[in-house]
Amino acid sequence: MSDLEQDRREIAKVLNQPGVRPDPKLRITRRTFIHRSCLVGAASVAETFAWWPLMNTLDIAYAAEQSFKFAWISDTHLYPKSLNTRFVEKVVRAAKEVQAMSPPADFMIFGGDLAQLGKIEELELGNEILKEVKIRKVFIPGEHDWYLDMGKKWGELFGPPNWTFDHKGVRFIGLDTVSRAPDYWSMKKMSPEERMAHMSVLDGTVAGPWAGVGRDQLDWLQKTLSTWDRNRPVVIFSHNPLYEYYPPWNFWVRDWREVNDVLKPYTKVTNIHGHVHQVLYNEIGNVRSIGMLATAWPWPYAPEGVPKLTKPMIRVDPGDIYDGVGWGKVDVTAKDEVDVEYVMWGRKEVFARSPEDASKASIPEVLRPRIADTIWPY
Ligand SMILES: [Fe+2]
Ligand SMILES: [Fe+2]
Repeated sequence: MSDLEQDRREIAKVLNQPGVRPDPKLRITRRTFIHRSCLVGAASVAETFAWWPLMNTLDIAYAAEQSFKFAWISDTHLYPKSLNTRFVEKVVRAAKEVQAMSPPADFMIFGGDLAQLGKIEELELGNEILKEVKIRKVFIPGEHDWYLDMGKKWGELFGPPNWTFDHKGVRFIGLDTVSRAPDYWSMKKMSPEERMAHMSVLDGTVAGPWAGVGRDQLDWLQKTLSTWDRNRPVVIFSHNPLYEYYPPWNFWVRDWREVNDVLKPYTKVTNIHGHVHQVLYNEIGNVRSIGMLATAWPWPYAPEGVPKLTKPMIRVDPGDIYDGVGWGKVDVTAKDEVDVEYVMWGRKEVFARSPEDASKASIPEVLRPRIADTIWPY
């Protein structure tokens, strides 16, 4: 048996235990509920795809609690203005649109990768643009923000990289999944710029498995959750997904097993993450994970395929800088009526519905379930 297969079996054994599923009554987002109902693939529910998580705005409605919404922006990858104005324009647009939401979102979360090369002027530029958003803002870092000065400037601008607060019956937690990379630079006497350069590529050949939560932060997470009722909702923001999707691109955290151990007792956990720049959905144990759009560019799906529960997004036009990116918003009334407006800029349809949809480019992207999903069914 290959190492890969051994790993897969271990993952399946640890995470896919009988009876361990997200609470079916969970109403963290109704899009996730609808999404699951769409798995049967009935044509009659095609329209409901239109309201599954294309949003970078999430509404949370609970029967016994007041409904509300918040906005997500991430992966803006800003260069200095003198080098690249395309990405700047997109952040400006997203910020204006978030600010224009009516009624306003309760807060905005920025999910990391504000800068491209971690430069002071890039981080300051992002901070300046996001001042357009006047509602409360919270921030978690991405690897592009961190590895030039090891988080110094980011910390000065945005404070501690992990935090928690409670809002209308939900415990929100921001995790730092980027700052604990194994030291790949000291032995090789890399300059800060070289260290950062290895972080600024998708393929982590040199930087290695840098995404992780770390023992100290896991202890903090456990302590933070210990004062929270196990059946009340928890939303965890992280830059990287908290499960294993595709390690070569750090579409995971390396200590996903320990994270899962800490979260296991809690029945209503949703993880919302950036870094993947694509529509992504998965459920592991009790935890639901939702990947969010970038404003800068969309990444392709991993060569190994997408989690079985993901309804893949459309194949985007590489010639259109506004395709496959953006954000969105969803309104939920007190009666749980939903009014959705998608803001994947320039697109009304965001899911691949046919092979033709997925083959706009000359080399069609093959969308298939991950190996793990085909061997160990949910
Ligand atoms: Fe990113
Ligand atoms: Fe990232």
